[in-house]
Amino acid sequence: MKNHSKQLAGAVVAAAVVLAPALAQAGVRVCTFPGSPSTALDQTVAREAFKTAGFDVSFVREGIGEGDDDGVSLKELHKVLGKDCDVIAGFPRSSVADGSDSKLLFSAGYLRSGYVSVGLRDGTARASAPDVVAATYASPAQLIAVQQRDVELDLENTAESTVDAVANGHARRAIVWYPAVVAYRGKHPQQQFAVTPASSAYADWSLVFAFGPNSAAMLKRVDRALASMSADGRLAALTKDWALPADVKLTRTKPALKPAYLDGPAVRVADAGHFIKVDVSAATDDPAFNQAQVAHGKTLYASSCAKCHGPDLNGITAPALRGPAFAPTTKAHLTIGAVFNYMTTNMPADRPGKMRDQDYADIMAFLLRSNGYGVSTTKLTADVARASTTPLAARPAQ
Ligand code: HEC
Repeated sequence: MKNHSKQLAGAVVAAAVVLAPALAQAGVRVCTFPGSPSTALDQTVAREAFKTAGFDVSFVREGIGEGDDDGVSLKELHKVLGKDCDVIAGFPRSSVADGSDSKLLFSAGYLRSGYVSVGLRDGTARASAPDVVAATYASPAQLIAVQQRDVELDLENTAESTVDAVANGHARRAIVWYPAVVAYRGKHPQQQFAVTPASSAYADWSLVFAFGPNSAAMLKRVDRALASMSADGRLAALTKDWALPADVKLTRTKPALKPAYLDGPAVRVADAGHFIKVDVSAATDDPAFNQAQVAHGKTLYASSCAKCHGPDLNGITAPALRGPAFAPTTKAHLTIGAVFNYMTTNMPADRPGKMRDQDYADIMAFLLRSNGYGVSTTKLTADVARASTTPLAARPAQ
């Protein structure tokens, strides 16, 4: 959700300037995500909801920085709230990434939308296009796209260029968040797309307002306002162009964040079709690893994993890789070998299996260290990691 079109951001800034006179008093400062395709909607709903709740709003133009290529972290947003903004409009939440680990407070959702697969209306054009699926880099679209079998990926930097890849015939389909299609149609009204739902645990997202920890009272009023706007039809009217078309139904597939390593019968991991069977009955000793590996693994983690799993391993769009949420301290349900095998086959999700064996082993050393395992002088090899039947259980750091 972070890499949406920068060109659009320009258009949105222009719109905000036009609106400025009507919002002369400062009031509640509302930030939106730079370049998000839903910004126009986020501002419209914010204006109405906060007015209903009895607040004046002003829109902050550059409250949230562009971030780097990896988007904006929850920590940065937390910093922004209170300093430059009182509220972030257009915060995306889903069952796989709900931000509940952070200190932010969230309103009820005002738009439930989803990732969709878009192709051209005209079937002949679609058939002649190469079997390429376009997705926006480091967005949930990429995760959905990598779950599809036997397709070639075209990773684009913005949601707009992702839709463009279909429009200009470079890709047969694109996976995009539906509001990006709405925004694209706004700029290219002649373009017709066939929209179908993308069935994935990562497809279903709602937009909410995010508040800092001291804004509980304001949040309550805004939630009440949203409820009344929903009851009297105002919310539906404001969001009708952005909601999924009636014939595109979100199919909620359950995210399989945990069952990936459950012992007992093999469990299917999300839509990826990987089967992992784990036998934790024959626990052995901790695999040894050395400090140099931890350091190297940390560097690799920062460049290849942090954008999804979080700079501090606490999870962003992907699950946390440290602490009890990842590796329960008691009743461990995964082994080090199973995690290693899973990781070397499926991770990094944007380049599954593409790293060197020893690099994976070094990352494993870093993950073990981060979960409280002690360092030794023996180097961990991929073979040893793969064969380890030791249950992975987070320990108090030593
Ligand atoms: C593009 C995003 C992305 C990147 C990059 C990425 N991952 Fe993941 N990772 C995911 C998602 C999403 C899941 C959950 C998949 C599922 O359960 O279907 C996941 C799951 C995992 C899991 C299992 C966690 C659990 O509790 O089930 C491990 C371990 C893991 N990743 C390690 C890594 C490592 C190590 C790297 C870097 C080498 C990495 N990942 C890079 C998205 C990513």
